[in-house]
Amino acid sequence: TQHMLLLGHTLLFSGNPLSQNWEDTVSIDSTGGVLIKDGHIAEVGSADALRKAYPTAQITDYGDALICPGFVDAHAHYPQTAIIASWGKRLIDWLNRYTFPEEMRLSDPDYAREIAGRYLDLTLAHGTTTVSSYTTIAPHSVDAIFDAAATRGQRIVAGKTCMDRNAPEGLRDTAQSAYDDSKALIDRWHGKGRASYAITPRFTPTSSPEQLAALGTLWSERPDCLMQTHLSEQVDEIAWVRDLAPHARDYLDTYEEHGLLGDRAVFGHAIHLEPREIDQIAGSGASIVHCPTSNTFIGSGLFDMAGLAARYIPIGLATDTGGGSSFSMLRTMAAAYEIGQLRGTPLHAAQLIWLATAGSARSLHLHDKIGSLAPGFEADITVLDLSSTPAIAQRANNAETIWDQLFATIMMGDDRAIQDVWVGGKKRT
Ligand code: GUN
Ligand code: FE
Repeated sequence: TQHMLLLGHTLLFSGNPLSQNWEDTVSIDSTGGVLIKDGHIAEVGSADALRKAYPTAQITDYGDALICPGFVDAHAHYPQTAIIASWGKRLIDWLNRYTFPEEMRLSDPDYAREIAGRYLDLTLAHGTTTVSSYTTIAPHSVDAIFDAAATRGQRIVAGKTCMDRNAPEGLRDTAQSAYDDSKALIDRWHGKGRASYAITPRFTPTSSPEQLAALGTLWSERPDCLMQTHLSEQVDEIAWVRDLAPHARDYLDTYEEHGLLGDRAVFGHAIHLEPREIDQIAGSGASIVHCPTSNTFIGSGLFDMAGLAARYIPIGLATDTGGGSSFSMLRTMAAAYEIGQLRGTPLHAAQLIWLATAGSARSLHLHDKIGSLAPGFEADITVLDLSSTPAIAQRANNAETIWDQLFATIMMGDDRAIQDVWVGGKKRT
């Protein structure tokens, strides 16, 4: 097959800008090129050298645009696509009032398929090429998102959301059925094409100790899967967990005691952590996913990026759609910046864009496949127009460096900034 050569400003990573200086780990080559062959990145280098080495390659010249890895949204709920931006409730009331009724509607397999497709099209339009999604308790809702991703050639992580208590009739499974259904779905989807499975207990309030134990057993049988869940998102939720599990040392312990802590564990939110929980997460190699638009929208709190990064905990970035208020990882980076400001630790544009790509990929153990422009990586690429609106163009004109330009797009950009999206080496039109 033919080589394709993308030319423009290329975003390059050589380390983690949260644990080292960003200048030493993230750079932009203003005359760069990315060579694609057979769905993968074959070479990255200077435009001139690549043009000379591959004179017959089909060239797309992006000029002043920034060629980035496709965005990776490390925590989302595709079934909540139609209830995003629902007014006036905090976490538990928001789940009962808006989320559970909508997840119930996905009991209809046709509706689940429609929402799965609509969701992936929306996220692709915002430059997101991989998501790690929760589903509903219905196994067909898991098939729907894996099918929709396969149709689009996308890398995807998903798993059956398990709940056997404190959820309405019709949205509850059992410890045994959660184990059986999750196991069958792992056999059907894990490692098929670009799919991987995450064992997904929703959170302790909706999973009984028996269910958490069953899923801990399943994870021990299939340790190559991820395990994703929610942790310490809102103060009222933590108080509820304390009532439900008075013997537990803390919220994390309710997972830990059932074998649900390990280096392939991915904890969403993790805002109000106790020192012991931070020590255990740091020691286990588990990841934490920051969901900034959700944490402000649902009123959950201010994530401690600097403190957790200082412990070398892998951190990803996510929309948490539809608790989050946007499908856009640009908007999500902007919210992460704002929360950093409120905590006195602003993130640099290089750190923000790393979090949305390589950082999220690392949190999902996909950092050898996606999230970087490097040889051997899958060719998921998002091209950012750094002057996509008159306001951004005017601001970019005044920029001292390209980082300043990128920062303007992060703060003010929307889907108009997404100039092109490549998925597995194919351009989405
Ligand atoms: N905690 C448990 N379920 C959910 C959910 O769907 N969204 C958010 N933001 N938090 C949760
Ligand atoms: Fe969530």
